[in-house]
Amino acid sequence: MSQPFIRIRNLHQTFGSQKVLRGINLDIFRGETLVLLGSSGGGKSVLAKHLPVLLRPQQGEIWIDDVEITHLGERELGPIRHQIGMMFQGGALFDSFTVFENVAFPLREDKGLKESEIRRRVTEALEIVKLAEHAGKFPSDISGGMRKRVALARAVVDAPACIIYDEPHAGLDPVTGAAIDHLIKGLQRDQGITNIVITHEIRSVFRIADRVVFIKEGQVYWIGTAAELQQSSDPLLRDFIEGNAEGE
Ligand SMILES: Nc1ncnc2c1ncn2[C@@H]1O[C@H](COP(=O)(O)OP(=O)(O)OP(=O)(O)O)[C@@H](O)[C@H]1O
Ligand SMILES: [Mg+2]
Repeated sequence: MSQPFIRIRNLHQTFGSQKVLRGINLDIFRGETLVLLGSSGGGKSVLAKHLPVLLRPQQGEIWIDDVEITHLGERELGPIRHQIGMMFQGGALFDSFTVFENVAFPLREDKGLKESEIRRRVTEALEIVKLAEHAGKFPSDISGGMRKRVALARAVVDAPACIIYDEPHAGLDPVTGAAIDHLIKGLQRDQGITNIVITHEIRSVFRIADRVVFIKEGQVYWIGTAAELQQSSDPLLRDFIEGNAEGE
């Protein structure tokens, strides 16, 4: 395989006396869909937040191509954050903004963009998630599944190279969950996007994952392909595959 797009080395994160990440090592390759599995509270969301440097580690490094990002200043992080879109757990939409304005939000940070260009890009992102006709509604007036799709459109709108999806399936019915998977795979296939997906939805794992990483107690417990996961006899992995998962 080629050089990894993202390299995480010996990453440690502690909150107070709680050691959440205890030396994570992980390579992520351009154009793959990597699924992060693991028990609730194991540190998946915390790990994800280090990639756009919303959190800084106490120890360890993250390389994106040839740039080590954990020590970059806010100004230098601008271009990094353009590369890494994030769909937050829970969506994190602005209730007082329309669907359109929620999706436009990342683009408005770039003061140089013309309104016509913003309109074009937001419309395109909303078309990908099939919400173009709902652009004028407020988050409170659409369903949970639609809110997830708005969050996805907002992660996509800035044309990132990589998108992190933190539990895109939570709270969705199986059909809507499958539609989200279809969108995620479509972004990989059609736009070459690198997908990092955190989920507890095991059906989705086998639909979308090229590789799977199992995080346990702040470390990489297991890593392999979806086929290797299917065949694994590790009791903890079997519990997840057979639906005896902790947490959700
Ligand atoms: N900003 C923070 N300050 C203090 N503790 C935090 C903070 N963020 C996360 N934690 C703690 O870190 C631990 C790991 O949290 P994290 O959200 O990464 O879990 P997770 O693996 O994403 O779980 P889930 O599957 O339930 O989403 C939790 O015990 C959480 O309380
Ligand atoms: Mg989480």
